[in-house]
Amino acid sequence: MAFPNGFLWGGATAANQCEGAFDADGKGLSTADVMTAGAHGIKRRVTPELEPGTYYPSHAAIDHYHRYREDIALFAELGFTCYRFSVNWTRIFPQGDEEEPNEAGLAFYDGILDELERHGIEPLVTISHFETPLGLVEKYGSWENRAVVDCYLRYARTLFTRWRGRVHLWLTFNEINCMSTQPWVAAGIASEDEGVRMRAAYHQLLASGLATQMAHEIDPANRVGAMYAGHFAYPASPDPADVIGTMRFMQRMLFYLDVMCHGSYPPYKLRELERQGIALPVEPGDAEALAAGTVDFVSYSYYNTHVTGAKTRGVIKGMNGLDTGYKNPYLNRSDWGWTIDPTGLRFSLNLLYERYRRPLMIVENGLGAVDTVEEDGSVHDPYRIAYMRDHLLELECAIEHDGVPVMGYTMWGPLDIVSASTGEMKKRYGVIYVDVDDGGRGTFARSRKDSFAWYQKVIATNGASLHEDA
Ligand code: BG6
Repeated sequence: MAFPNGFLWGGATAANQCEGAFDADGKGLSTADVMTAGAHGIKRRVTPELEPGTYYPSHAAIDHYHRYREDIALFAELGFTCYRFSVNWTRIFPQGDEEEPNEAGLAFYDGILDELERHGIEPLVTISHFETPLGLVEKYGSWENRAVVDCYLRYARTLFTRWRGRVHLWLTFNEINCMSTQPWVAAGIASEDEGVRMRAAYHQLLASGLATQMAHEIDPANRVGAMYAGHFAYPASPDPADVIGTMRFMQRMLFYLDVMCHGSYPPYKLRELERQGIALPVEPGDAEALAAGTVDFVSYSYYNTHVTGAKTRGVIKGMNGLDTGYKNPYLNRSDWGWTIDPTGLRFSLNLLYERYRRPLMIVENGLGAVDTVEEDGSVHDPYRIAYMRDHLLELECAIEHDGVPVMGYTMWGPLDIVSASTGEMKKRYGVIYVDVDDGGRGTFARSRKDSFAWYQKVIATNGASLHEDA
């Protein structure tokens, strides 16, 4: 059997995209809470004043805060052995820089862990997933300021200590390379200036290294992973200029993982920073911290692939960095224009394993699509089944044929949640339908799509049923 025994099967969510209850039990505001969404996309605000009458998707989201028991019971019914969720920083430290944590916030996640334990589901906790405390943005200018490293470490220590022995798998930052593509969403950085972004990235990498060391000290059984936004690119042509352009694109994305796995900045990045006149805010002891804080495993999200080349000089633009200026004529696209490339998953697994020699985990994958609810309440989603099946078959191939060690697979949004890039609900990934629309209206009821039974069987057979469907 290709999928090893103990392979982790499950799903992944982010707090701000599912919890709602944005101001409950002492929670403070995060960057996610001041982002509006509408039919024409997403606007960002950097001021804390909420506009009355405006719809903010994170405020109610899908009300997981009050329904997590029901939701986790559905995950158990699916057979999940792993659930990746994020802790909302502002539930624990409402402004981000308090000395003491908010007990009510911690108690909420205690409840989630209780439910997971009851069902024998292993938690994988993302410490920071696209929700920087607004207090840190306003008071310190967010991650550009080194003071935020200490705030993050206080927050991380609180979690590691509280859940010692209960949580063993941790991710320090969701999609850390999004500092280069969507810094406001990823890190509360509104500036277009590359120097600001690179100083902020430096602080996150330092914080990640220090937190990794801390996690190991607090509980040697802790395993800490990097989490990379799966940007992978093919050259637009065999023209060596396109190949070099693509190499530059990949270097701009992968340097984050290079630091987290190799423990220092790679020479190509140091040279680039030098050319750009950007000085990293290095202090004594930092190099040692990066070297001692390398990760135990590498996780990433995988949705699509890009095409780049000389024309874009490795620059990526647009939300989620999808606009590289080239189209891939060999691939179909989702309703949101994301390429569908199962083979690219195998390619990416090989690429990352060759480069890092760390166990890998796919912690996000899936198809954001419009679903239709039939009169009897059913949702027929063969497109989602096909997407997941094709990707899982390539993942199996990477394990079986190429010998890549893969720890697990958590599909993105096992129940429909708010889209990070558009704020929409109609961009649905779930095998569980949630009755909420783009304006936050609906009953919030959960129901099983066709893909629910399909995924349940895949998990129950440890992947063997993928071949029945193919
Ligand atoms: C990843 C993020 O970038 O992609 C998630 O980690 C996000 O938070 C996911 O939801 C899918 O993107 P979207 O925009 O379709 O929600």
